[in-house]
Amino acid sequence: MSRLVVVSNRLPSLRSGPNVGGPEAAAGGLAPAVLAALRRHAGSSWCGWTGRVAQDDETEALSQRIVRGVRFLGLPLTKVEVELYYNGYCNRTLWPLFHCFQDLVHVRLEEERAYRSVQRRFASAIAPQLRADDLLWVHDYHLLLFGRELREIGWTGRAGFFLHIPFPPLELFTLLADPADTLAALLEYDVVGFHVPRFAENYVQAATRLLGAAWDGTHLRWRGRVQRVGAFPVGIDLATFVPTPADLERSRRREVLGKVVGDRRVLVGVDRLDYTKGITERILAFEEFLRRSPEWRNRVVFLQIAAPSRTHVRAYHERRRQVETLVSRVNGELGEHDWMPIRYLYRAYSQDFLSDLYREADAALITPLRDGMNLVAKEFVAAQDPEHPGTLVLSRTAGAAEELREAVLVNPFVQSDLARGIHEALTMSESERRRRHRALFARVRAGTAEEWGRRFLGELERVGRITDPEAPAPSVMTS
Ligand code: F6P
Repeated sequence: MSRLVVVSNRLPSLRSGPNVGGPEAAAGGLAPAVLAALRRHAGSSWCGWTGRVAQDDETEALSQRIVRGVRFLGLPLTKVEVELYYNGYCNRTLWPLFHCFQDLVHVRLEEERAYRSVQRRFASAIAPQLRADDLLWVHDYHLLLFGRELREIGWTGRAGFFLHIPFPPLELFTLLADPADTLAALLEYDVVGFHVPRFAENYVQAATRLLGAAWDGTHLRWRGRVQRVGAFPVGIDLATFVPTPADLERSRRREVLGKVVGDRRVLVGVDRLDYTKGITERILAFEEFLRRSPEWRNRVVFLQIAAPSRTHVRAYHERRRQVETLVSRVNGELGEHDWMPIRYLYRAYSQDFLSDLYREADAALITPLRDGMNLVAKEFVAAQDPEHPGTLVLSRTAGAAEELREAVLVNPFVQSDLARGIHEALTMSESERRRRHRALFARVRAGTAEEWGRRFLGELERVGRITDPEAPAPSVMTS
């Protein structure tokens, strides 16, 4: 079996325990899914930013740590790189643009240059670690150009790329300073994967329209390159969330929430604090629900966990202020001396704590305005007690909605529809909740993180690096 080398902007947090683990711990995130795939390959490594800010002369140093058979190779970023590359081009240009938040996009050429130079530096640090027959798997929008940098250094092995966020429609993609160049760089990968077919279609449309690439339904062909494009919906590591008999016992006693909320019903939201997650819209919908259904006052609590994220980007701290102002207004206006409608916690929690919480909640409000997938939705389903499952209220605009069709689907841009979803979740009969949960759980179980890794890497192993445009396409299934 080939070795697997994963590259992502950030290495996962390797700590464990309650209340630690960084934003990944409270928000799905790519780390658990990638780790599940990595563990299947002996001698595999994961390279990325350590999260540490380095002095200018330290950037060549690769740190190494081996945890449970996986080698983690850490690269530092300088203060300037963090500001221009990570806060700047990644999170002030690509993130809002790819999520269709056009008003928040800013494009600065200085930041775009830093984005390129970080990828060049990552490529030259990682290239000496690679063997010709390694499988290289690059992740997410931080590293769109990384494959081309490696090819320029001369590495010709098999390279795949997976985008964890949406790929935008053409009109938005062309707002980038040089969209054709970004696509040309992406075409250096042998396999490019997205969560859902809609994002793959947007990418193919951009490549065919802006570059004139040819598309045959499974492969793009351009200047001698042949690239497999497909949808590979990411899943979760089931074992972390599916309850043991002891977990079920604890949650039937309501050990986490009982003391705090009494016998009131509980709605839960768990997100990174990000404007794409629709937290303010969700709070406003909860307020509308309470105003329209006063019989629910003092009978339900909405617990929102918001994990700190990208705190040096203005749009993020502005959103934090908005959320906190709103929580305090709604609690002030609708709360009673013995009941606060909203409990808001600005921190990350461990996966163990979250799975207990998911099981004790009556419903989860997973209502992002736009999301590549949203693994919290799948985690919530997996964590349920099958005898007394909670209800999932899910945005139609999250990638997860394409698979989790038995959720209560809502349009997060329409406040009254979201309020209707909350009402439906709270009044759904137990038999209907069980019926929906069975169907949802079957889908989550069929598409685990391990299965996602197997499917993507299976394509990468099969397709290889075919450069002859006349070569017959390998027989692969369309996703
Ligand atoms: O969902 C996109 C993503 O970049 C994930 O890959 C990651 O887990 C999460 O957002 C957190 O991002 P950051 O590294 O910027 O904190």
